[in-house]
Amino acid sequence: MRQSSLVVVSNRLPLDDSAARDGACEWRRSPGGLSGALHSILQQTPATWIGWAGEMDLAPRLPDLGSVRLRSVALSAEEQHGYYEGFANSTLWPLYHDAVQQPVFQREWWDTYRSVNQRFAEAAAEVAGRHAAVWVQDYHLQLVPTMLRELRPDLLIGFFMHVPFPPPELFMQLPRRVELVHGMLGADLIGFQREQAGHNLAQLARKLLGATATSDTIEVDGRTVRTGAFPVSIDVDEMRALATRPDVVRQVKQLRHDLGESKRVLLSVDRLDYTKGIEHRLTAYRELLRDGHVKVGDTVLVQVAVPSRERVESYQDLRDRIEGEVGRINGEYGRVGEPAIHYLNQPFDRSQLAALYRTADVMVVTPLRDGMNLVAKEFVAAREDGSGALVLSEFAGAAAELSQAFLVNPHDLDGLKQTLLRALEAEPADLAARMSAMRRHIAEHDILAWARAYLTALDHTGRLARQLG
Ligand code: ADP
Ligand code: F6P
Repeated sequence: MRQSSLVVVSNRLPLDDSAARDGACEWRRSPGGLSGALHSILQQTPATWIGWAGEMDLAPRLPDLGSVRLRSVALSAEEQHGYYEGFANSTLWPLYHDAVQQPVFQREWWDTYRSVNQRFAEAAAEVAGRHAAVWVQDYHLQLVPTMLRELRPDLLIGFFMHVPFPPPELFMQLPRRVELVHGMLGADLIGFQREQAGHNLAQLARKLLGATATSDTIEVDGRTVRTGAFPVSIDVDEMRALATRPDVVRQVKQLRHDLGESKRVLLSVDRLDYTKGIEHRLTAYRELLRDGHVKVGDTVLVQVAVPSRERVESYQDLRDRIEGEVGRINGEYGRVGEPAIHYLNQPFDRSQLAALYRTADVMVVTPLRDGMNLVAKEFVAAREDGSGALVLSEFAGAAAELSQAFLVNPHDLDGLKQTLLRALEAEPADLAARMSAMRRHIAEHDILAWARAYLTALDHTGRLARQLG
């Protein structure tokens, strides 16, 4: 086994399942922020990326992709259930997102979560060279830093949490709270999307482990763990280039024609997840139609909701509710050949997404809680001509950076309706000023800047950051 000086560990590899099965390996931009973000920076980087290759029992042997070596970790059907669908996505995910859905605490999931984390730690220990850096990602693998340190004390260990990290009032509900906090603290540097998350962890470390903590350090087990905010981003150049490609421009023309040349287009693009606030948005839109503030003759909503975590019951229930509501709205307000909402429950490739972003007059991103939300940044990157409005939830990490968006509290239905109308009716000059400020921000804070900032903070020398392609 060849060894690497940089190892990245995430739950998922960005591989197409079917492509992996027939051996013809291709990058898959699986819907989801994490694999998209890492995919952009790792293709050109000499590193090993460890993760799960999707819906299969066996760990397939995967060819290198560009300069990154892929190493898959096998998960049995039982492990997928207990670790991925269970503890990660039915316990931690809802709890970390303000418990907008009731977290499920099932004792038997814990053992599977721990043993799968141990397997990821062992895989990392095996491929990491002496004094290498290992960068562990997200809530699925929260125990890996400490497990890895036990196996390989020589390593430099980083951990990045892509999702929100909750305040003690919520975190303290977790039956395994001590182990989870201790698990993360095996890292040398813990990165979050927002500063507040680091303060939450410091409070928890004091309370649960009796650790000494400042605003950006935690002393535990005779070591100093650093914490910091590193807001994740997108490959801005890639999205810009896509959005101006001639075939994408043709798609935009076609979409405009298909949706109705003179119509104002509202667009939402989400994984079908209860954190994304899709139901609140649909209610607001139904009321705007009911009150006559928007009319199907001149406005249309395009809702892309790509299926996600389909074996988790709360996601199945959500899908049923959303599809029922879209059906009701279209039944009540649509006309023949003119639905109120176009609902698309399918994955799109990057160029189709770029075309959709360019087609929209108003992009509606209204999660109830979101670590970052890369869709908001992708929309901004795609608007080369400076037009278009972004309606953005205050509860998305992106709101801290894109303050020129039309910020909104998605729980406040009247506020949401008014904000949608303000965005629909805004003057082009106002929109252009807002868009240009947001575009400046993301141009300076793209995905490469994120990875460089994190890795430089991890190793202090800039050596790791220089490896990035
Ligand atoms: P999350 O990580 O919770 O899914 P983000 O907004 O940060 O939320 O990231 C979502 C990513 O998934 C974005 O890069 C977006 O382009 C992608 N995506 C969303 N919907 C689709 C879809 N229908 N097809 C393909 N990719 C999608
Ligand atoms: O950003 C949170 C996250 O869980 C990521 O790890 C992942 O990119 C995304 O949501 C999609 O989720 P999943 O990997 O469960 O399809």
